Amino acid sequence: MGGGPWEAAATGVTDRQVLVRAAQSRDLDTVVGIERASFADPWSRESFESCMEPQRMRFLVAVEVDASVSAADTPSGEPRILGYVVALLLFDEAEIANLAVAPSAQRRGIGCLLLDRMSADLAGDGVQSLYLDVRESNAGARALYASRSFEEVGRRRRYYRHPTEDALLLKRNLQPT
Ligand SMILES: CC(C)(COP(=O)(O)OP(=O)(O)OC[C@H]1O[C@@H](n2cnc3c(N)ncnc32)[C@H](O)[C@@H]1OP(=O)(O)O)[C@@H](O)C(=O)NCCC(=O)NCCS
Repeated sequence: MGGGPWEAAATGVTDRQVLVRAAQSRDLDTVVGIERASFADPWSRESFESCMEPQRMRFLVAVEVDASVSAADTPSGEPRILGYVVALLLFDEAEIANLAVAPSAQRRGIGCLLLDRMSADLAGDGVQSLYLDVRESNAGARALYASRSFEEVGRRRRYYRHPTEDALLLKRNLQPT
């Protein structure tokens, strides 16, 4: 993964600063809350805990910090987690296994920020192709992925539950061709 935990700051979405860093155990209460607010069939806390295994998984969170406090000071305070992204590595391929932004923080560029940081980290790790599944009816997520050059490469019939729905399989090349 690229750099230290507070590297790759991105600003400008609000008067505060939003940073992306590796997830920590203390983030999980908020992550699980966002997950339950986001999905009809949410992951458990244990599922997220298993994503903190760095050999096979990448788990990043977007954190809002007070811009008047230096990044170095921030970890001692209470993190305000706005969203997260999880990827699973399989040799030179990877899959986005989860991505969500708190409902109150959506449409501020945080989904893009998380996806861009994860893509850059994975590209730096030598990953060639990044895959993900998305509900066919999830127009917002599909628009986000289209803006990041993901292309439809398949369909998984009746893949999702609550409600049952097809998944579209999307792919993006991470290395220059
Ligand atoms: C999908 C999701 C992660 C997007 O996060 P976000 O922080 O709101 O996304 P961004 O602000 O970075 O949006 C980037 C672009 O994606 C598109 N987009 C995102 N949400 C959209 C929506 N609800 N409707 C239409 N377009 C949308 C827009 O083009 C947007 O750019 P714009 O705001 O300049 O128009 C968020 O809506 C979410 O958590 N949804 C519930 C969980 C989910 O569906 N996860 C994806 C599973 S595959």
